[in-house]
Amino acid sequence: MSQRTLVLLKPDAVRRGLVGEILGRIENKAGWTISALELRQLGREVLEQHYAEHVGKPFYEALVEFMASGPVVTLVVEGERVIEGVRALAGPTDPIAAAPGSIRGDFGTIVRENLVHASDSAESAEREIKIFFPGIA
Ligand code: CMP
Repeated sequence: MSQRTLVLLKPDAVRRGLVGEILGRIENKAGWTISALELRQLGREVLEQHYAEHVGKPFYEALVEFMASGPVVTLVVEGERVIEGVRALAGPTDPIAAAPGSIRGDFGTIVRENLVHASDSAESAEREIKIFFPGIA
């Protein structure tokens, strides 16, 4: 089933020079296509929309501050089971719990600075794509 998903390479991934490595892992998957891509500095307004479900959680303020701390790569990836697939490539939220071979398992240690975001459902993907790429249908 062809799907699309919204992926963010977080400021830690950009600062550490891991953009090529992470994009390569996504591009290497058979039949997946990056259909939109941009490097940008995110402002508080867009982050508040994106992380609306986390408002009020203990990690929320530090998360927004971190996500605004440097440029982020925003992308839309399309292809076969890409929603589940990018989340499998990323590994679980906590990088220490993530298996070696996954992006977080290979490069992460800190829960907040876990390198990538990927939409968790088709509904989230459509909501998030509208926030970051309002121009694409
Ligand atoms: P992600 O799953 O992309 O979106 C929510 C983000 O909040 C998550 O990645 C982490 O960056 C951050 N996060 C989630 N749980 C915690 C936590 N317990 N402590 C700090 N940051 C967290």
